[in-house]
Amino acid sequence: MNTDDTRVLLEEIDAYIERLFEPSDEVLEAALRDSRRAGLPDINVSPNQGRLMQLLVATAGARRALEIGTLGGYSAIHLARALPEDGVLISLEIDDHHADVARNNLERAGLSGIVEVRVGDAHKLLADLVEGGEGPFDVVFIDADKESYPEYLDASLRLVRPGSLILGDNTIRGGTVLDPQEETARATREFNRRVAEDPRLSGIVLPLIRERIDGLTIARVV
Ligand code: SAH
Ligand code: DHB
Ligand code: MG
Repeated sequence: MNTDDTRVLLEEIDAYIERLFEPSDEVLEAALRDSRRAGLPDINVSPNQGRLMQLLVATAGARRALEIGTLGGYSAIHLARALPEDGVLISLEIDDHHADVARNNLERAGLSGIVEVRVGDAHKLLADLVEGGEGPFDVVFIDADKESYPEYLDASLRLVRPGSLILGDNTIRGGTVLDPQEETARATREFNRRVAEDPRLSGIVLPLIRERIDGLTIARVV
């Protein structure tokens, strides 16, 4: 089978799984629609990946979750849906406009009481969380600027406990991590290497089919 055939087959498999498990959900559809209308880039997690993360968060029995990179709140809806009613998701976003769109989407999803969107540079906001003793978080989902993934991993490790999950989005990037030619791919490769080598973590990089082939790094704090 040639590369194009494989690509088509992978896309068909992803679409099959999406249809199988994703009866139309008006809240998620509306979140994507409003994000698009508001001019946000179309770089949210895929429906299948959102579903996977929801499962992971529920399986972890998480009560407190942290997201780095909110965009329009599409992944936040999945994460927050896996939390109990008295759970907390803090989501960090540098862009005011993205945060506004996300807050509206989360409000419509009935999740405003669980999710707090904090606006600012995640580097600063993470330092504030550490300083304010706001950890530990049971799950951290890293999905902001790729160059900063190694730093976000360091900060995350200061905000977790044994048994917590650290997830990293876009860690295959169409295969660019295999032979990095630019800073984002280099930093992502470095992030994966650290997850693999850090004795405090036990992890895996899971390849995923999206618009292009990508991956989710899943690490458990030992
Ligand atoms: N998690 C979202 C997608 C996030 S896209 C979803 O799957 O639905 C990445 C987001 O990170 C963008 O909204 C971008 O504005 C934000 N971002 C980029 N650099 C950042 C930084 N330094 N601090 C906080 N947020 C940042
Ligand atoms: C892209 C996808 C993402 O999930 C992200 O966080 C950033 C960029 C992209 O496809 O370009
Ligand atoms: Mg992403």
